[in-house]
Formats: sequence, structure tokens, C-alpha cells
Amino acid sequence: MKFPLSIDYISKIKKQIGVDTLNNATIREIVQISTIIQKEVDNEPLIRFDKGIPGLPPFEIGVDAEIKALKNGIAAIYPNVEGISDAKEQMSIFYKKFMNLNIGSELCFPVSGSLQGSFASFIVLSKIDAKKKKILFVDPGFQVQKQQCEVLSVDYDTINLPEIRGNKFEKILKGYFETGLYSAILYSNPNNPTWLCLSDVELKVIGELSNQFDIIVIEDLAYFGMDFREDYFTGQEPFMPSITKYTSNYILLFSSSKIFSYAGQRIAMLALSENLYKKEYINLSNTFKNISFGKALINETLDSISSGTCHSAQYAFAAMLQSINNGNKDCINALKKYEKHAKLTKNIFLKYGFDVLYNDDLGRPLADGFYYTIYHPKLDSEELLHSLLQVGVTAISLKIAGSKEDKGIRICVSQIKDEQIELLDARLSMINSIKEKFETNEVVIHYQ
Ligand SMILES: Cc1ncc(COP(=O)(O)O)c(C=O)c1O
Repeated sequence: MKFPLSIDYISKIKKQIGVDTLNNATIREIVQISTIIQKEVDNEPLIRFDKGIPGLPPFEIGVDAEIKALKNGIAAIYPNVEGISDAKEQMSIFYKKFMNLNIGSELCFPVSGSLQGSFASFIVLSKIDAKKKKILFVDPGFQVQKQQCEVLSVDYDTINLPEIRGNKFEKILKGYFETGLYSAILYSNPNNPTWLCLSDVELKVIGELSNQFDIIVIEDLAYFGMDFREDYFTGQEPFMPSITKYTSNYILLFSSSKIFSYAGQRIAMLALSENLYKKEYINLSNTFKNISFGKALINETLDSISSGTCHSAQYAFAAMLQSINNGNKDCINALKKYEKHAKLTKNIFLKYGFDVLYNDDLGRPLADGFYYTIYHPKLDSEELLHSLLQVGVTAISLKIAGSKEDKGIRICVSQIKDEQIELLDARLSMINSIKEKFETNEVVIHYQ
């Protein structure tokens, strides 16, 4: 079989996987569809823009440290839930050096991926106050965190960032906060999927309102420093904008998955302010032995979920942080490959009549990085995902990320290889004839 694939063939694969529309398909389902197609087209690679898997080798310093720890017999020993001191100390040094934040090592705790950190946090947050039962998410956002709330039966609402930036931001956020229904707000900076970055001014607003209404801010740093418009690894101003400047009501989630290309080992660090760690919530006594937020979170919740975090991965994490803290920029420089591939692929999409959907970052051009969003003025997102799949290009819809737009898709550049850049051009050149068939209704997608 060769590209472009027929629309009937795509419909058949959708049926096989049990997917009604590509627009509603989860990343997992898109990956399943891609795997089937890849097996059936001979020697013609799919160009994969779907899953956010790091496309770089793991940071070797971590691998070496982990092997050494394993050879020393660490695999036999249960890790302490607080984490090993080296990893905690290096996290604390990192925050001081690259965020100008004073946070003691005793407030940094390893977790099995930052997703475990958010999962544990949602459990405790939903129990701190009988009225404050909900989490507020800044959307478009990372779908799995909302899935976590659903799994836990924790209610949540979303605010649509692109619609409320600028003058409206404070008023709208305040409207949500003053309902008294939210225990916490969560955002990632840069944002998955749009790569928009909350500005220092916006973070100040969030911080001040969180103080006023006693709302905990979860700052998800899955893409720390990957807003390549600034170099946040100099150890000097400008430091990366962060909520920690404006409130002491925070939880930070720092992931090794993207910055160190270490996603497979599921290692991250949750840190919280001393104020929040010690803060007592009487309502917690309905569930926990401890009424302090920190102890309920670490000693009871994290301990219940996994009794600590993979021991050898903590050694890797400590070594990788230490290396950056000591000035090694190898892994940061390697990340620039994503910036380069975002620039190159974006230009090819623009050449074929696509446009970037969320391209205005408060008047600044968007950074090039891990993700960006595109649309085609003549196609809705279902037609777009279909047409791209027909020419061997995979992506995910923005609908599953909570976008209010019905026309956009997310492009993740991490998996594209240098030699596929030209191929992308060739593949997109086939799209016009497919697009015309949609426009003239010559082809209609069969929604099952
Ligand atoms: C915004 C965001 N947060 C968290 C994660 C997951 O991080 P981890 O691998 O540390 O669980 C991702 C992964 O794609 C993400 O995009």
C-alpha cells in the first residue's frame, strides 16, 4: 500500500479500533491506528506528530548513576517515602540556582512521574474542605490530569486561557475563585498543547488571588526552561516566571521526562512550600491521621500509592540535577533539536496553507518548542486529521485537550527525524487534492 491512503481504508481502521471520530480519539487510540497503518505500508514511514515521547536519548549521566546504584544492590532495598537525600538536595539547589527560589530539601519529594504527584495531590486537595471540592484547570491542557480527577471522582472545571488573557484575566479568575468551590488551580508553563506561556503579570494575578481566596496553585514544570525565547539556565536574571514569587500556597511538579529524556524511568519531584506543608486542615481528619497538608500528602497518600519511588531512578535523578547544577548544559543544548524541528515543520505547514492556531502569546511570537497547534482554513479538525492520516502524517485533535476551537490539531515535534523533514514537504504536497474532495463534498467521512 502507498500514500495517499483511501478514505475507505482509514474508515476501516477506525472501525477496527472502535473509534467513531479521529477528533475524539485518545492519544492511545491514534497510536494504535498508526501502528496498524505502519505495518501495512511498505517501507514508507509514517510521520508521527502524535504522542509526546522524548525523541532524544536519555541523559547518560542518569543511566550511569542508575546502573551503579543497581550494581551496589539498591534494588533490594525499599526506598524511604521522603526520598534519598542527594536527590532532595540537588532539587533544592536547582530551584535556588534556576528559579531563585529558597526551598529546603526537606520539602522536595520524589514521585513516580509528575503524574503521580498530581494524582496524590488531587486526593488530598479534594478532602481539605467540605465546600472546596473542585480543581480548576487552565485549558487547553494535559488530558491525563483531568482523567485522574475522573478516576478519583474529583470534580473539576476548566478556564480557556486563550479567551481570557489580557484585561479580562483577573476578573474572570476572581469570578471562579470567589465561588469558594475550588481547592486548587493547575497549569503548565509552557503549556501542553499550545506552548503558550503564562506571563509574570498573569502569575502575579494568580498568586495574589490564591492568597486572597486561599487556593493552592499547582505549577506543572513538565517543560522547565523549554520556552527557548529566553535562556533560563544562566543562573541569573531573568529567572523563569513562577508562582513562587507571589504566593506561598504552592505545589511544584518537576519532571525528568522531557528535560532529561527520562520518561521511561518515571521519576519526578514534588515540592511544596513550608507554609503549605505545615498548614492544618481540620477536614483532613475525616480521612487521614494527620491534619497537616504535607504529612497527609507524603506520609499517608504517597506512601499508600507506591511506598516510595523507584530507588535507582532517584540516584539517576540526583546525578542529572547535579550535573546541570554544576554547569553542564549538554542535555539543555540537546533539547534545542525540538526548537529546530518546530521551526522547520511549522514553515512547511504554512507553505501548504495551514496556519498556527494559538500564535499570539500576549503580543509575543510563540516560542518554538515541543508542541504547537495548527489548523487549515478549509477543513475542520476531523477532516484535517483524516487528510493527514491519508498522506501518512499523524497528530491528535485539540478537542481532547479541552480546546474550545473545532478546527485545531496538536503537532508534537519530538519524534520527527531530520531525514523526515523533506518527506513532510512531499506528503503535504499531496494534501490539496484530498482537501478539494472534501470541499466539493466528493468525499464525505462516514461517521459510524
Ligand atoms: C503538562 C504535562 N504534565 C505532566 C506530564 C507527565 O509528566 P511525567 O512523565 O513526569 O509524569 C506531561 C507529559 O506529557 C505533560 O505534558
